[in-house]
Amino acid sequence: MNFVDSIIKKRDGGKLTKEEIAFFVKGVTDGTLPDYQISALLMAIFLKGMDTEETAQLTMEMAHSGGMFDLSALAGCKVDKHSTGGVADTTTLILAPLVASVGVPVVKMSGRGLGFSGGTIDKLESIPGFRVDVTEEEALRFAKESGIVLMSQTDNLTPADKKLYALRDVTGTVDSIPLIAASIMSKKIAAGADAIVLDVKCGSGAFMKNAADAERLAGIMADMGRHVGRRVTAVISSMAQPLGMYIGNSLEVMEAIEVLKGNVGGDLLEVSLTLGANMLLLAERVQSEEEGKALLLENIRNGKGLAKFKELLIQQGGDVRVIADYSLLPLAEEKWEVKATKSGYLTRMDTAMIGRASQETGAGRMFKGQTLDFGAGIVMKKRTGDVIATGETLAVVYSKRREKCQSAADFLQKAITIEAAPLTEQTPLILKTIR
Ligand code: URA
Repeated sequence: MNFVDSIIKKRDGGKLTKEEIAFFVKGVTDGTLPDYQISALLMAIFLKGMDTEETAQLTMEMAHSGGMFDLSALAGCKVDKHSTGGVADTTTLILAPLVASVGVPVVKMSGRGLGFSGGTIDKLESIPGFRVDVTEEEALRFAKESGIVLMSQTDNLTPADKKLYALRDVTGTVDSIPLIAASIMSKKIAAGADAIVLDVKCGSGAFMKNAADAERLAGIMADMGRHVGRRVTAVISSMAQPLGMYIGNSLEVMEAIEVLKGNVGGDLLEVSLTLGANMLLLAERVQSEEEGKALLLENIRNGKGLAKFKELLIQQGGDVRVIADYSLLPLAEEKWEVKATKSGYLTRMDTAMIGRASQETGAGRMFKGQTLDFGAGIVMKKRTGDVIATGETLAVVYSKRREKCQSAADFLQKAITIEAAPLTEQTPLILKTIR
């Protein structure tokens, strides 16, 4: 097959055949296609799109590009969850122990953060001793014993996605609906869950900036999952501002523990409960989302969710003392308060720019493979709609280096809009649920 013909066909808006897509994914996986040709096809897909059939074929070829994790040895419905990526989005650390604490097993492979969005694996690694490199055999054993495993993707899972994601990241082709759908769903299908809850983020801190695009992405991923026999629910949630108040790895671990202790409510808790309840619904553990939320909330109140989190830490070598003593988690020594330069109402946040500020502190990656400063990050003090007085603290920045605190603070000043008139309407937190 002459691969240039496939590039030209897609460049001119044509439809790739099943054979062409299989040839592409095989060439990506075994290294026989050069990066420049792969990148050319990615750009053609970015510009001309793919129809549902092409996207489904790309998804399945990518899912089968490596090993498939077999969870059939575990009893009951195995439910996975995936977020398309956001800022201060710590829901996995909250909902995984909560869902497991009501008897629905959670075996979740997660990724590292890249760009403005954070990754669960980096957050977990900020806990001293916590081991994310769990083998498939261990994962099955842990799941049988505790009902919860949070682990990094094994090396042989969807190697085509690893290669393609790295190239997309440096060729301006990340925010393409078919490429995102295939990337996420191939990993979820290969990771072996029976049912999947997708959290599709929408807004200034998400790949999908508007509701129409978020709904399209959610619909395509849900169709893709159902096509291969998975039960799927997609929740479209707002990323018009950071979800929680803490941004950064150890900082987000602290906030997740505070939520599990019942000390913190707000949007982070609400989205965690919504996603968790939908996981329980897909697993047929409850009859309605309301029943699911009530059950999860009950396990915050009675401490069972926090106990499951502690079990997870013990199981994977993490220092459990961090639950009672946050000083055992890393925190960068330099601190910088970002003050309001005028009074008014906080009307808007450019959340991607806040994510950019977090990268500046050292909490997020600028390039693949970059070592993070787990103790760096930002604590937000305000939310949209708040009344602001001149000189009030909007956020506190933590970094190892003073000049990085300052440049992150500059990004934050640009990201936060204060106006004389109040907001006329707030974006709803949950925009839509597709079942
Ligand atoms: N998350 C993924 O796993 N892949 C994408 O392409 C985008 C977000």
